[in-house]
Amino acid sequence: MTEPAPSFSKINWLYEMYYGFRPNQPKFLPKDYPDLTGKTAIVTGSNTGIGAFVVELLYEKNCNVISVVRNEKKGLAAKEKALKKVPKSDGSIMVVGGCDFLDLNNVKPAAQKIKDILQSRPLNIIIHNAGLMSPVNIGTSAQGYEAMFSTNVMGPQLLQHFLDPLFLKKDDPLKRIVWVSSCGHLLGFKEYGINWENPTFKDVPISERPRNMTLYGQTKAANLLQSHAWAIKNKKAVDEVGAVSVAVFPGNLSTDLTRDWKLLGWVLPYILAGGLYGAYSELYGALSPDLTVKDQGAYVVPYGEVHKPREDIQAAFVNGSDVKLYNIVEDLISKYF
Ligand SMILES: NC(=O)c1ccc[n+]([C@@H]2O[C@H](COP(=O)([O-])OP(=O)(O)OC[C@H]3O[C@@H](n4cnc5c(N)ncnc54)[C@H](OP(=O)(O)O)[C@@H]3O)[C@@H](O)[C@H]2O)c1
Repeated sequence: MTEPAPSFSKINWLYEMYYGFRPNQPKFLPKDYPDLTGKTAIVTGSNTGIGAFVVELLYEKNCNVISVVRNEKKGLAAKEKALKKVPKSDGSIMVVGGCDFLDLNNVKPAAQKIKDILQSRPLNIIIHNAGLMSPVNIGTSAQGYEAMFSTNVMGPQLLQHFLDPLFLKKDDPLKRIVWVSSCGHLLGFKEYGINWENPTFKDVPISERPRNMTLYGQTKAANLLQSHAWAIKNKKAVDEVGAVSVAVFPGNLSTDLTRDWKLLGWVLPYILAGGLYGAYSELYGALSPDLTVKDQGAYVVPYGEVHKPREDIQAAFVNGSDVKLYNIVEDLISKYF
């Protein structure tokens, strides 16, 4: 189905895993961010964790932020918190609720709300931050897809489909997309991280699914592939508007991501940095002038530097396996266009 994948170095694998826990300190910090007056950013999964910090930091720089969440009440509570923490800004925070990627029927109405808010203003930044790392492998979406694949891969790509015509316009020089990935991509399947025969595990008995972290790893490998494939598939418009699409591993951090992980969820706050550091990584991807149109699919690691992803994923960018995955997902989500 795909080009045979090259094997990947175990030494690099171990180094990158280790680096996730002991990254360099951030160098690109809020004092370095440009003023974002008149710019608009979309941040998904922004009611808590890293996304909530991203909203605050963007708003502090006068950005108009559209916070896309599944639970509107939680989104509005996070907005109130951000307004208290940042009392002075020329920007705004608008909350779009109901965008639960566990039912793909939710995405089109959320995209319509975004369109209504945006009207004809430029859309500058899209941060696909929402994500699920489940402690079990049994979650299934309303459409019968494995829950993490639906949340971390299908939902974001479907939302991006609706945002493309709003984003790919020559209306402002700042055009960035951040697909939030993870060092967890190293845990994905052998061939480019993906279970090519059936990445969604639809109709596969749960007893035959692999471990939860292999499933999570697949989704985070997919995010890397999506970040490059999106730029290839939209190359003409991307070149015209100067858009840059990158993947960001925010860091191994203490957030609500492990809320259902019992013991691990209890221990992590004592040993890991908080979500703010992940926001530094994501905003490096969204704002750093180091990244240009030559960096499509760059793998940003904590807290704002670029590394190489797994060797087979690097190969996918050359042999087109990234676009193959994008097309497979596109076929599946096209029912919800
Ligand atoms: N924290 C880490 O160590 C780490 C490491 C590597 C990568 N990441 C990635 O960073 C991103 C942010 O994670 P985080 O650490 O900030 O986790 P978090 O605190 O759990 O935040 C995740 C956000 O995603 C939303 N979300 C979860 N399932 C969703 C669904 N089905 N549909 C729509 N939204 C959904 C959550 O909404 P609710 O609050 O309503 O559930 C929440 O707003 C994720 O993509 C994650 O994979 C995190």
